[in-house]
Amino acid sequence: MSYEQTKYWSVDNFSGSEENLQLIKEAALWITKGEVVAFPTETVYGLGANALDESAVKRIFEAKGRPSDNPLIVHISQIDQLDELVLEVPEVAKQLMEHFWPGPLTLIFKKKEAVAPSVTAGLDTVAVRMPDHPVARKLLDAAGVPVAAPSANLSGKPSPTTAMHVYHDLKGRIKGIVDGGQTGVGLESTVLDCQAAIPVLYRPGGVTKEDLEAVIGKVKVDPSLLSDDQTPLSPGMKYTHYSPAGTLYLVRDQDKISELVTEAKRDGKRVGVLTTVEGKGRYEEADVVVLCGSNKDLATVANGLYDSLRKFDEQEAEVIFSEVFSYEGLGIAIMNRLEKAAGGQSPL
Ligand code: TXA
Ligand code: MG
Repeated sequence: MSYEQTKYWSVDNFSGSEENLQLIKEAALWITKGEVVAFPTETVYGLGANALDESAVKRIFEAKGRPSDNPLIVHISQIDQLDELVLEVPEVAKQLMEHFWPGPLTLIFKKKEAVAPSVTAGLDTVAVRMPDHPVARKLLDAAGVPVAAPSANLSGKPSPTTAMHVYHDLKGRIKGIVDGGQTGVGLESTVLDCQAAIPVLYRPGGVTKEDLEAVIGKVKVDPSLLSDDQTPLSPGMKYTHYSPAGTLYLVRDQDKISELVTEAKRDGKRVGVLTTVEGKGRYEEADVVVLCGSNKDLATVANGLYDSLRKFDEQEAEVIFSEVFSYEGLGIAIMNRLEKAAGGQSPL
């Protein structure tokens, strides 16, 4: 499928104007007609299609070049939409929905037949979330159907946090893009399976393990998040993701980064360094230095991470050395994405 021109709707997140709503409705209409449309959520941009329409969902996989064994998250704007998607809602899920929906938490349920088979990649479970973004909510309301949406990037690339990122990856491959500005959290939602007695965290995200435990008590972590030799419980977690074109290395020690930069420069490479505002001026010998947020507030690092990774591509860095962050709170999600971007390598 190729589109001569990908449509582009620029909307104001906070405007309730009729004009704004018309643009969102136009985008939603394409979804109901079986097309795929990118839209902003509070985490990253999603690439949406009607989750009940198998051929529409297949277009998502085509546009992204996504492996067909990697299931999608279904987005809803009203709790009662769960009825047509899932067989049962466990008690813990109810508590979590009450606390964290709308928000960056995806829950795994036993699925109903109505869900298009490609959405779940043949699994008997379905992932659902209710996004906390005014444009996403209005779009979902206007579409009136549950919307399956992965992140709106080409498979393997960093998730998009601006409409420009989506345009760069998918122009000509999708029907349209709703531009609602930069996303907030900057990392994808937390994915939690709450069917077992002790729920299992599949993907760390904006809602941290501590946040979850404060509401429902003990949460287990998928062992593959802690050790390289385990197969992830969630299919998508086994793929290399978020990767810039250059080779990325994570390095614990800042002096070591400086040494590695000098060495790589000696080998004639174009070298990048990923640091924070606290590292400003520290790596002057590097060709491309990207400052991503502040170590004092990891939410700023999460927010800027994918845009930072894309900057190394724009500036054609061949080797990139990145500082690391503490494995606590939001740092767990940040380090998970960085390790994946580095091809699964642990920090040097
Ligand atoms: O924040 C987000 O979650 C964004 C926005 C657009 O909502 N979406 C997103 O989708 O990150 P995607 O496709 O990039 O990631 C979906 C993740 C994958 O790791 C996939 O394997 C997992 O959710 N997943 C989906 N359905 C699942 C299921 N039934 N069982 C286990 N894992 C599932
Ligand atoms: Mg993704």
